[in-house]
Amino acid sequence: MERLRHHLLETGYTIDGVRERLGSMAASALAREELIPALRATADGDPLGTLIRLWWLGVPVPAKALAPEVLGSGLVRPDGDQVVATVHLQPWQTGGYLVSDRKVRPGDPALRPDHVVGAGGASANLAQLVTRRPVGRALDLGTGCGVQVLHLAGRAERIVATDVNPRALELARLSWELSGVGDVDARAGSMFEPVEGELFDLVVSNPPFVIAPARDGRLTYRESGFEGDDFCRDLVRRTPLHLNPGGQAHFLANWLHVEGEDWHDRVGGWLRETGCDAWVAQRDVQDPAEYVELWLKDAAEQGTPAYTEHYDRWLGWFEERRVEGIGFGWITMRNSGTLDPVVRVEHLAHQVALPVGDYVDEVVDAIATAHRAENLDAALLRTAEGLLDERIGLPGAEDPIRIVLRQTQGLRRSREVGTVEAALAGVCDGELALGPLLNVIAELVGDGEIPDSDAVRPLIAEGYFLL
Ligand SMILES: C[S@@+](CC[C@H](N)C(=O)[O-])C[C@H]1O[C@@H](n2cnc3c(N)ncnc32)[C@H](O)[C@@H]1O
Repeated sequence: MERLRHHLLETGYTIDGVRERLGSMAASALAREELIPALRATADGDPLGTLIRLWWLGVPVPAKALAPEVLGSGLVRPDGDQVVATVHLQPWQTGGYLVSDRKVRPGDPALRPDHVVGAGGASANLAQLVTRRPVGRALDLGTGCGVQVLHLAGRAERIVATDVNPRALELARLSWELSGVGDVDARAGSMFEPVEGELFDLVVSNPPFVIAPARDGRLTYRESGFEGDDFCRDLVRRTPLHLNPGGQAHFLANWLHVEGEDWHDRVGGWLRETGCDAWVAQRDVQDPAEYVELWLKDAAEQGTPAYTEHYDRWLGWFEERRVEGIGFGWITMRNSGTLDPVVRVEHLAHQVALPVGDYVDEVVDAIATAHRAENLDAALLRTAEGLLDERIGLPGAEDPIRIVLRQTQGLRRSREVGTVEAALAGVCDGELALGPLLNVIAELVGDGEIPDSDAVRPLIAEGYFLL
């Protein structure tokens, strides 16, 4: 594998190499599952173009165009005087390589139930959410092709990776070997079974969160076989049993929006009994039809005879459960060891600074501090760096109609505030206590009434003021 890796690097089979070779039009077309522009861009028969055709596009290539490192890799098979890939092998953002099954395209045979999904948007989404803090023991639950491990390598002293699908572990081991990541403890089993009684400093999971009716031949990479969103719920509920003090968990998840139920209560309810501080950010909501179409397309079912029947049954299943939407988002949990944990559940659909992992610890710190800080009157607050004060008013008018505090960093929140909070943002430099500051500001700009320092808690929780 070492020799193969060298060959791939030498040939330029890297993220940048492939991107440059394909160009933006072919790359965009591939994202729409259209191969023709990419085939045209790689038709020269040169080494890089041949590798892209073999392992990225999944088409047969002449055996004589391949180096011995490729022919002897065990990741291709002969097909006449041509060679075809037995796996999808892709360079990844970390500089490593990932081995998985090839993504299915329209017209391909149906996916096998133990299909090992390659790294994609969701994998990258989780990887960017995970804290950058170095940790001792880390767990990647549902490792698939092993992508999260590539991101954890170098940040975690020990990594355990689990998957219910033994084929996934097989391919993940190849990914790690090919990426020069050694010493991963890979274990087969469902959810936390393979790590019973063990504690971690970090747990990450891009779980099989797709919510679908039970069926024969369910796709393990995305459907858990649990009812509704129960897999994500149980994952959350069982996590505290596996977190060291101060340990953190990051998950992607889907949750149901059910008629007559507030989704905040549903997801908040999963977390409330865990004893962990938690932050849930819903990044998107789809209606049931959009959701079903997305996942039927993911398995390239559009245009097949089964499409209509499957679509109809899936939609009917949602209807029976009075499902109005499906939320997608991030869940972060921290075992803070407190008797007074806090859970913040919010919809956060706008663009935030990436990677969130650079500042996710501060996001959770802020939520916890705002909840637990005592005697805010004596607190020395600082205004967050990069905060802007935007005022909207009628032309010529002295007073604004609206004042908005806007963050230019991190979660890039914005919030309409009153003149007192706006003035506070102008003077909080960590030197004077909040209580006396509010008194002075109230006299100068307020309506004379002295604001309660506890009213500033939501602004601390949302990172406008730091304590
Ligand atoms: C969406 S894929 C994520 C793969 C990879 N970690 C990533 O970030 O792209 C979910 C993975 O969870 C695995 N899985 C499904 N059911 C599971 C279960 N009950 N316990 C553990 N892993 C499971 C699947 O086999 C699959 O590899």
